[in-house]
Amino acid sequence: ACGEKEAPPPQAAPAPESAQAAGPLKIGFMYVSPIGDGGWTYQHELGRQAVQAKFGDKVQTSFIESVPEGPDAERVLRDMAGQGTQLIFATSFGFQEYVQKAAGDFANVKFEHATGYKQANNVAVYDSKTFEGAYLAGIVAGGMTKTNTVGVVASVPIPEVVRNVNSFVLGAQSVNPAIQAKVVWVNEWFNPPKEAEAASSLLNGGVDVMYQNTNSPAVLKTAEERGAYAFGKDGDMSAFAPKAHLGSAVINWEPYYTKVVQDTLDGQWQGGNYWWGVKEGAMDLIKVPEIVPQEIHAKVAAAKAGLKDGSFAVWTGPIRNNQGQEVLAAGQVADDAFLRGINFFVQGIEGQVPG
Ligand code: GUN
Repeated sequence: ACGEKEAPPPQAAPAPESAQAAGPLKIGFMYVSPIGDGGWTYQHELGRQAVQAKFGDKVQTSFIESVPEGPDAERVLRDMAGQGTQLIFATSFGFQEYVQKAAGDFANVKFEHATGYKQANNVAVYDSKTFEGAYLAGIVAGGMTKTNTVGVVASVPIPEVVRNVNSFVLGAQSVNPAIQAKVVWVNEWFNPPKEAEAASSLLNGGVDVMYQNTNSPAVLKTAEERGAYAFGKDGDMSAFAPKAHLGSAVINWEPYYTKVVQDTLDGQWQGGNYWWGVKEGAMDLIKVPEIVPQEIHAKVAAAKAGLKDGSFAVWTGPIRNNQGQEVLAAGQVADDAFLRGINFFVQGIEGQVPG
């Protein structure tokens, strides 16, 4: 749908108030990859379907998939808003500047942006605590690696992704302090052949358990072919790799999407900054298989319980960066500002964050 190369239309007029007067609430979702990716976008799509099912004829939802993080994104947002869409979810970090531009011209439209940080009167930001899922997966990885070397196929070098890479490794080290880790960057969210190639290079380098921050099951499928282990991310990817799959760190967008749509229907949309995780039912590690030792299952369950009741935080010191400097002192718990600015690798990870 987004292949055509049109110039963005001239500054469109704000949607008329009458567009909001009657009929179902029009809700649009803009996705960065195909709904068939099995991961990030598929999971947002499940959230959209849940909203449509829950609110029935009170809402009319639609989506546009495979929108690149470039000028096309602004055109899609302006098209949606110009066609009377009242609430728009833009579901990738790189849409941030385009959301800001479109939102500035459509004051009556509410914009919701995952996973950015720039808010406005009509722009809310939201994310899920994917780093909690990464940590839980890391516990399993630490219990399963034979080479003591785990690997991550990383997407785009932004704090969110660096935090997830680190959190996976911290989880692994929590059960096995000898763990070392390698990272390969693909600089894209969705490129299955490139993701698979990155996975192969990790395995060639001695990695035997992998995680990823990309959108497709390519890393997991590569593990299956090579007799290694990996995880599903964002969605349940167990079906793609029956032998290699060690669990899927899934996001559930339904609680947040339901809240936002209900607020909007009630005339109570207020914007803000939402970051929900295991505690709010927005993150979970599911389908950890029986081949994983019972003691590891128990450690995952304990960490989950701690995240749920608030007695445990993934980023609790002592934590050192891979230059040996202490970044969190013993017992110190990172606040959101710290978490949102992570731009270093923790001890045990090879190399540096691309600068
Ligand atoms: N996949 C595509 N876009 C994103 C994003 O912004 N965050 C995460 N975690 N995954 C993505």
